Amino acid sequence: MVSGKRSARTHSPAEGAMEDASKYLVNTYRRPPLVFSRGNGCYLYDQQGRKYLDFLGGIAVNALGHAHPRVVRLLRRQASAPLHISNLYFNEFQGPLAHQLAQMSGMDRVFFTNSGTEAVEGALKLARAAGHESGKTRILALENSFHGRTFGALSVTHAAKYREPFAPLVPNVEFVRFNDVAELESKFDSSVCAIIVEALQGEGGINPLSVAFWTRARELASHHGAALIADEIQSGLGRTGRAFAYQRYPGLPDIVVIAKALAGGLPLGAIMAKEAFASAFAPGLHGSTFGGGPLTCALALEFLSIVKDDKLIENVRARGAQLQAGLTRLMRKIDFIREVRGEGLMIGIDLSVEGQPYVAAAVERGVLMNCTHEHVLRLLPPFIVSEKQVSEFLARFEAILSETPRPAAVSVETQPHREPHREAAAPRVLAAV
Ligand SMILES: Cc1ncc(COP(=O)(O)O)c(C=O)c1O
Repeated sequence: MVSGKRSARTHSPAEGAMEDASKYLVNTYRRPPLVFSRGNGCYLYDQQGRKYLDFLGGIAVNALGHAHPRVVRLLRRQASAPLHISNLYFNEFQGPLAHQLAQMSGMDRVFFTNSGTEAVEGALKLARAAGHESGKTRILALENSFHGRTFGALSVTHAAKYREPFAPLVPNVEFVRFNDVAELESKFDSSVCAIIVEALQGEGGINPLSVAFWTRARELASHHGAALIADEIQSGLGRTGRAFAYQRYPGLPDIVVIAKALAGGLPLGAIMAKEAFASAFAPGLHGSTFGGGPLTCALALEFLSIVKDDKLIENVRARGAQLQAGLTRLMRKIDFIREVRGEGLMIGIDLSVEGQPYVAAAVERGVLMNCTHEHVLRLLPPFIVSEKQVSEFLARFEAILSETPRPAAVSVETQPHREPHREAAAPRVLAAV
């Protein structure tokens, strides 16, 4: 319903929308005072017509940018087809999409969800169901992880600030120090049904999982009959310059979860699993009313075909390398950049000062990015970003960092990605001070 009376102070539709939001929405997000109403490629426009270079991409969702012509065409085509028919019947897109995802990931079967957190829930349930008869119930997760906000996903998310107000959470979850192989070995036994990892931690500050940790987790999971779950919700579908970030490690996971970019901007997630685990679900044991509907699956097929036709993974690699090179040059000029980390178009710039003031300054200057882990500026630009737009970003980013008053310092201890035993081959640190 369109809102009724406005206060005398309200003048524009944007102000009205913000006033309604602050009065009627549950207060879960801090937002800058602007309303986006139009988008095109890597740019968003607010209701005053101001242009913003979008290097956040809807937190890794808008891999095709905004209003991609093929997405618009597909939406128009599907608008008069059934939007929803329920999972009690086949639809024409779900099977072919599952087929493609299985081929891309090396998994055997797929279950569709509406979000990342729902995919994580299902993956944990699948691992518990597979381990049920042999009494395996423990789940291992990593320190500094982020897997979502529903109870299961929250139970394997590390940050106390997200978890503690909702305790008690799902039992039998333990955290392992990030990249600490010795601790992994000490906690892994035959009571473990799953270990869940992000190959490149996103919300935790763009922290790469070491090859040694992955390799040992793979061995231990195989040995004990547990599932190695790769959370590729942020890093998957091409963002790191590979279809999946785990493809830089030896061996496959047993279960993979994806979401974010999958349906070109609409909500769709998936659990992909090897047969040995997928077969733990039988009709009636798990389900979803909306998951894998015809519209989102048609969009996902279009997304995958655009990524292929337009060689977007190659573009992610090239533009990622350009960004990294530019940021590394910038490190020589800006003494409060501690490190630049990441792969492809998933990049973190670790500062020795608070990051949020730079995010606010960037908005003022028409650039969108965000800050994670209090001091890591995170870049997740669309896969379609051009060479010119990366250069534009680098020039504007330098001005933002050098002209904003320097915020408070953060302590060195807040660098969670630091490994107990640093290995030369493991994390892909792009540049370090
Ligand atoms: C790695 C990872 N897992 C899970 C989630 C949760 O996904 P969603 O917000 O779609 O529930 C996120 C969201 O940022 C994520 O980055």
